Amino acid sequence: MNNDKIIKIVQSLVSIRDLDALMENTLMLLRDLVICDAGSIFIYNSEDDSLVFKYIQNDSIDVSYKEFSIPLDEKSIASYSGLMKEVVHVEDVYYIDTNKPYKFNVDFDKMSGYRTKSVLSIPLLNINKDLIGVLQLINRKVEKVKLTSSNVDDVIIPFSAEDISILYSLSGIVAVALENSILYGDIERMWDGFITASIQAIEARDPVTRGHTDRVTKITMKIAEEMDKDDVSFPDFKMTPDDVTLLRYSCLLHDFGKIGVREYVLNKPKKLFPDKLEAIKYKFLYAMCVAKSTSEDAYNKLVSYYESVLKANEPTVLDSDIGNDLKECANYAFKGINGEEIKLLEDAEYSCLSVKRGTLTEEERKEIESHVYHTYDYLNKIPWTQKLKDVPKIACMHHEKIDGTGYPFGLKGEEIHIYGRIMAVADIFDALTAKDRPYKKAVSVDVALKIIQEEAENNKLDKDIVRFFIDKQIYNHI
Ligand SMILES: [Fe+2]
Ligand SMILES: [Fe+2]
Repeated sequence: MNNDKIIKIVQSLVSIRDLDALMENTLMLLRDLVICDAGSIFIYNSEDDSLVFKYIQNDSIDVSYKEFSIPLDEKSIASYSGLMKEVVHVEDVYYIDTNKPYKFNVDFDKMSGYRTKSVLSIPLLNINKDLIGVLQLINRKVEKVKLTSSNVDDVIIPFSAEDISILYSLSGIVAVALENSILYGDIERMWDGFITASIQAIEARDPVTRGHTDRVTKITMKIAEEMDKDDVSFPDFKMTPDDVTLLRYSCLLHDFGKIGVREYVLNKPKKLFPDKLEAIKYKFLYAMCVAKSTSEDAYNKLVSYYESVLKANEPTVLDSDIGNDLKECANYAFKGINGEEIKLLEDAEYSCLSVKRGTLTEEERKEIESHVYHTYDYLNKIPWTQKLKDVPKIACMHHEKIDGTGYPFGLKGEEIHIYGRIMAVADIFDALTAKDRPYKKAVSVDVALKIIQEEAENNKLDKDIVRFFIDKQIYNHI
């Protein structure tokens, strides 16, 4: 036995969090410690009281296996060991004492030509002595050699009392590491599920941008992954698994703050809401009735004004002639039935219709922009772990511009986290190419790339990231 090997095992148990990596590595190190030809780890499933056969290693033959479950009963060595929470040592499984309730299933040996002989099963118990899994080590060898049919009897020996004692001492730490890793995975899955549900809820309020979050996340992650691989263009850009999680959460939550934006503003296909347009229509009809009895010209003028109102209501760029008509409408008033003065277009209606591009008034545009303040604010209330503490900061950076003209904080150049700069490219690309916005036609990929390139030249987007995105045709690999 070797103290260094034990230290290595303990180090691995406390440093690896990924369940599969942790178990594979632990099994390998434990087998190395006691010179075992093969081994496996079963994980206890409390839902159906079974052991899940998860990890298997064998130095002498290639083993391919499918995960399967066995009931936690007395019938096999591993399940008996788990059920009774007892260490079971069998010197030769082909000669198990007939008084024992467990048997050895020879199917695997028959199928593979392998000879299983000495077996040690150790229950993996946490500090409350709850069963977490079972460690099974197979064929303790005198030395590290490959087993063949001719050397089996010479090479395989029983496990020694010292082997059993050391492995049993280590099994407690293995159990705790295994339990932590399972718990960590459960928490991560729960958190992922919560985030997915939140996004679904947010996007349900704004159906025209459905799928935007998912696409932005995919594009961003792909750009980052390629940047990480490319040592020539981005030699300093390297991501650890924690960085990947940080960026993924930041992407998934980048528009989380839309929850704080009123629904009718989020989803405004025309400049006027239907009820407003309806009210305007009746005012026009009334004014036309009045005009008809007095002047044909005035009547025709109103007909053409109304056409201009309908055209202006569309989300296209406002034509200057229509703009003039609107101005005249805003100055036009007529007498109501009680002699009161009625304006054809109220000031608020006029300013809505006079929007030059898109459908949002200045105030509404500001409200939409406020989603990133909300993103920052809401996410900041979550007690993030140390490794994820930058999620709120990064999630809200996707509308910042390199020249400092973006929002929410007006950050400049490298003040914007590189993850934020990548997300900005992905966000714009998706907003341009998304096919699901009725009020804004999707543009072709070529046009979108041209616009993005212009944005980079105008110092709005990160030039290097945009060039990389276009050169590598990342948009084609999502
Ligand atoms: Fe956004
Ligand atoms: Fe977005």
